[in-house]
Amino acid sequence: MDEIKKEFEEGLKRVKDFEDLKQLKALFLGKKGRVTALFKRLKDLSPEEKKEFGREINELKSYCEKLLDEKSRELFERAKQESIEREAIDITLPARNVNFGGLHPITRTIMEIEDIFRSMGFGVEVGPEIELDLFNFELLNIPKEHPARDMQDTFYINDNVVLRTHTSPTQIRVMKRQKPPVMFISPGRVYRRDSDITHSPMFHQVEGLLVDKDIRFSDLKGVLSGFLKLFFGDVPVRFRPSYFPFTEPSAEVDIGCIICGGKGCRVCSYTGYLEVLGCGMVHPNVLKNGGYDPEKYTGFAFGLGVERFAMLKYGIDNIKLFFENDLRFLEQFSFAKGRLL
Ligand code: PHE
Repeated sequence: MDEIKKEFEEGLKRVKDFEDLKQLKALFLGKKGRVTALFKRLKDLSPEEKKEFGREINELKSYCEKLLDEKSRELFERAKQESIEREAIDITLPARNVNFGGLHPITRTIMEIEDIFRSMGFGVEVGPEIELDLFNFELLNIPKEHPARDMQDTFYINDNVVLRTHTSPTQIRVMKRQKPPVMFISPGRVYRRDSDITHSPMFHQVEGLLVDKDIRFSDLKGVLSGFLKLFFGDVPVRFRPSYFPFTEPSAEVDIGCIICGGKGCRVCSYTGYLEVLGCGMVHPNVLKNGGYDPEKYTGFAFGLGVERFAMLKYGIDNIKLFFENDLRFLEQFSFAKGRLL
């Protein structure tokens, strides 16, 4: 029995996992185990010896069970400890960066422009990018021989259909389906055969139209000056006489150069001013073409280039940056004005 006990103890020392433990238990306490075998020898003994020997076997059996039990607990504790270490989370590690998508600076600029005009009561309309020559030119009082109609400037789809060269055709479309008064802006893409650092063959405009009784040039001035101050901050605004076939009188609007503060620089060609808008009182012919009576109604219209607004506001010097989809550029606009958009 001493020998069995010793061998059991030796065996226990070699136990490394539950599998070893199971085998050791089977080897000593199983049906054919060495301790179990001892019980079988009891029948050959005298009653006196049986009692003594039986007690000793039982002691050995309990002893083995106790050690197996302890070992099992030890293995269990160790496994638990290992899994805690393995699955530990180091809360001192810096968190993984969560990236948010952001709105494209052009989309953002259009939204800012819309916000301002909506606050003044303007609605928002959209027109088609593929437009009839009739709406893009003819009904806007742009005569057949006008240079804007040249193949050099306009993308023609066929003799009667063009990619719109400006958002102004929306004026005609809305007037044709809606009685006066009208008061809306219309953002969208426009196309011209032009490409350099300040021109892209596709760019965005926002058109504006307000027609009602007694609308005067002072209304145009008030609305546009107010809008420009809300968009750019407190900058000087000046109106210059100009010409558009669909407005009369017409004007171009300049703001004090954002880059040099009006001192004169390369961007403003040393004039201290930057042109940002075209506008004017809607030409009577255009009102007529829209189905409005120019004797009763007057109105003003304007058009602005969104890329130009965005370039000036954010200090961007190349229009191509808007269309290259370089994340290093775009990411700078994912949080603007402290808003997550
Ligand atoms: N459509 C003109 C342009 O693209 C801008 C404009 C719109 C001018 C409305 C006057 C009135 O240049």
